[in-house]
Amino acid sequence: MALYSEKVMDHFRNPRNVGEIPDADGVGEVGNARCGDIMKIYLKIKDGIIEDVKFNTFGCGSAIASSSMATELIKGKPLSEALTLTNKAVAEALDGLPAHKMHCSVLAEEAIRAAIKDYYERHGIAYDKSQFPEPDEDKEIHEEN
Ligand code: FES
Repeated sequence: MALYSEKVMDHFRNPRNVGEIPDADGVGEVGNARCGDIMKIYLKIKDGIIEDVKFNTFGCGSAIASSSMATELIKGKPLSEALTLTNKAVAEALDGLPAHKMHCSVLAEEAIRAAIKDYYERHGIAYDKSQFPEPDEDKEIHEEN
């Protein structure tokens, strides 16, 4: 069996929503200290809906595929829904990631969360801090695919 699903290969080769949004309403940047990969997510938000989303990822193929899939999953969705997106859901939408690559999908979940938090802070919107736990580098690293 191939190590990577066709969906992972597709999103790696033809990533959706790559780029920057110069007048973004929220920007989130996270990194993984172990592998050194970095992901940046830009959000354009109107009336609580994610109207547009772009990403820049300096990282491995799984991180690029995860960013691409995650942006597709939250585009056009309410912030409340984007906040519930888990790395596991991103990996499942990609038809799975190898266990040792699950941490790449964690970056996508964390970058989206960081961008939403940035949006709330920039716009002086009160938010529930418990929705934004500190990133945990070891999260899901041992998750089965
Ligand atoms: Fe670093 Fe994939 S190896 S995010």
